[in-house]
Amino acid sequence: MKAIILAGGEATRLRPLTHNIPKAMVPVLNRPFLEHLINYLKKHKIVDVILAMGQPSEQIQNYFGDGSGFDVRLTYSVEDFPLGTAGAVRNAEKLLDECFVVLNGDILTALDLTAMMNFHREKKPIATIALTPVENPTIYGVVETDGQSRVRHFIEKPHWSEVTTNMINAGIYVLEPDILSYVASNTFFSFEHDVFPPLLEKGRAIYGYPFESYWIDIGTPEKYFRLNRDLLLRYIGDKDVKLEGESFVHPSAQIEGPAIIGESCFIDRDSVIKGPAIIGPGCQIGQGATVEGVVLWQNCEVAKEVKLRNCIIASNCYIGQRSEILDNCVLGDRVKVKEGSKLPKGASIQPNEVV
Ligand code: GDD
Ligand code: MG
Repeated sequence: MKAIILAGGEATRLRPLTHNIPKAMVPVLNRPFLEHLINYLKKHKIVDVILAMGQPSEQIQNYFGDGSGFDVRLTYSVEDFPLGTAGAVRNAEKLLDECFVVLNGDILTALDLTAMMNFHREKKPIATIALTPVENPTIYGVVETDGQSRVRHFIEKPHWSEVTTNMINAGIYVLEPDILSYVASNTFFSFEHDVFPPLLEKGRAIYGYPFESYWIDIGTPEKYFRLNRDLLLRYIGDKDVKLEGESFVHPSAQIEGPAIIGESCFIDRDSVIKGPAIIGPGCQIGQGATVEGVVLWQNCEVAKEVKLRNCIIASNCYIGQRSEILDNCVLGDRVKVKEGSKLPKGASIQPNEVV
């Protein structure tokens, strides 16, 4: 079976992290998010992957190429203008001839996709939609099903008064190719609004596939942060420290896991790193700095005696001596934090700013 990953549209809510980088390339455990999605598909024996994108992305293409370095066949399907979730799939129609999987490009899950594909083959609907329970369904697409798991109703981004179930569209579909005859070509068309509800009205069967295993979307910096932490705890032992390549760690530095440290880092004397911590390649952690609960992208310089705690810092930032960045701050690329600066809680700093 082939899969198509939707990696276009706007990524506004993940700003300031996505100014210079597509959402799909945002690093998670020092690897592009998309690499985790591709690995997930591979685990379920899907090696033909189409990437539907709004614009050609050199960053994505330079990293993944034709996919051979990742043991998949990767094809790019580029839209002249955003076509919406369904329009983007229709745009790749010539690449799709049999039943296929669609994945939103901003979710990660441990859903048993193999079991879901088998369920779809058994029930033979035009579409099967994975459904996951969430605490706040109002920011997702709510999907009501009957006792046999047949979808009865869709409400995209409902008000609380309209919420009848906490089961939402998890952004993973198994679809029959004839669904594309319900999608206009070269027109903005979304599955959620323009395809699934009209199919129900026509009496076509759509099934829900409820599951309870891990599921998260990286729609906001908070969730992006949580995903990094969750995966770190899953892949790295509770107190383990993984050095991904050669780095200098001063003997007096203390590193407490779980932590991942990219290659070519320089961890100076008397610094303290406390997990969960993800430090990208080429970072410098200065003398006496304390770094705890961070996601640090590549080539950041953290000067002497800085305090970092529970924050996300994108690439090429400079954090000046004795400054403090605590409690859910998010810094875009190339931010310069001045000596002694104390950022307010939850600050969101745009790329290239000096604060
Ligand atoms: N190629 C392409 N072109 N991709 C697109 C386009 C487009 O025009 N528009 C959106 N996408 C991609 C996004 O990059 C994302 O990976 C996915 O389609 C879903 O779009 P979002 O903009 O993230 O939608 P959402 O998160 O508000 O809602 C969707 O996902 C929820 C689950 O996370 C809906 O499918 C909801 O029903 C669902 O609950
Ligand atoms: Mg989303």
